[in-house]
Amino acid sequence: MQGVLTLGQFIIENQSEFPYAKGELSRLLRDIGIASKIVNREVNKAGLMDILGEAGTMNIQGESQKKLDVFANEQFISALQSGGECCIVASEENDEFVYIDGEVSKDAKYIVAIDPLDGSSNIDVNVAVGTIFSIYRRKSSTGRATIDDVLQKGTEQVAAGYVIYGSSTMLVYTTGKGVNGFTLDPSIGEFCLSHPKMRIPKDGTIYSINEGNYVHFPEGVKKYLKYCQVEDPTSSRPFTSRYIGSMVADIHRNMIKGGIFIYPTTSSAPNGKLRLVYECNPMAFIIEQAGGRATDGFNRILEKDVHSLHQRSAIFIGSENMVHKAESLMSQYTKDQSDEKLNELLYKTGVIGGLD
Ligand code: AHG
Ligand code: MN
Ligand code: MN
Repeated sequence: MQGVLTLGQFIIENQSEFPYAKGELSRLLRDIGIASKIVNREVNKAGLMDILGEAGTMNIQGESQKKLDVFANEQFISALQSGGECCIVASEENDEFVYIDGEVSKDAKYIVAIDPLDGSSNIDVNVAVGTIFSIYRRKSSTGRATIDDVLQKGTEQVAAGYVIYGSSTMLVYTTGKGVNGFTLDPSIGEFCLSHPKMRIPKDGTIYSINEGNYVHFPEGVKKYLKYCQVEDPTSSRPFTSRYIGSMVADIHRNMIKGGIFIYPTTSSAPNGKLRLVYECNPMAFIIEQAGGRATDGFNRILEKDVHSLHQRSAIFIGSENMVHKAESLMSQYTKDQSDEKLNELLYKTGVIGGLD
């Protein structure tokens, strides 16, 4: 066991870096770690048990829930309930946020936002899935926490992390002082520090996007894809396309190898698909802490106003220079498009260009 540092040991050794009372956040992270091991066990058994298929209920997005979505949600909520450090859970799987009203939890200082199982449609085909979590400190100091405690900007996160249930299971998290990754050693049932001080390369050669939606993409995204596909040996283009369909797995790969993940607005989903509170904000916090960049194509994800629990956002996230390039094309072509529209309007109203 020499040289092995478990997640529990690491949290205790590094809690002097935590911004607030140290024990509470440590316990919260420990509780999330425990629940993720239980979820990991069930994900691994998914092919063996009668757990595949629809649970028969719909979440607020109108998507059918897999049984493992429901199971994972219950596990995280119950771990946070018994831990006593969290007063509200905001989950993808619950239409409204969930009060943890136990004797201990009602005055608890933290709020957890969670996507209990990300990429869940991949379960049926034995492809990596994940969990995403985000931790906020409640703003109100007395009484029951309110929706305003939940709807904080991403910049207010005190910690965020993800678990990837892949060829091995990893937990990666930040408390705002860099990013560390832990791999689950199934033989001892512990997450062990395997990726200390993770950094995403400034440049990369992988782009991840659901290209099937191409016709619905904004012009700037189409131009960026063309840029990725053009031959230019000096910048290692054409780049490689990789898309798993689990945001956690796609971003984790890009974090290690360098790359960009894009889920833009589309003409059919004008606000994007992914959810700001429990998908975009935590992943943006982690990637920024690893030296990368995360925007909605124009503005920093972490500074976006949060109006509702299940709010959606476009996301461009990954290696800093790749995201910058995509953003520059977004603003260039959005401007061109709006200039075109303006010119059309001015022409129609006779302000410019006459027929003669
Ligand atoms: P979830 O399973 O939590 O609903 O999230 C699925 C998300 C995300 O993980 C992935 O990147 C994206 O949906 C894939 O969407 P498309 O199938 O539209 O590409
Ligand atoms: Mn998700
Ligand atoms: Mn999910």
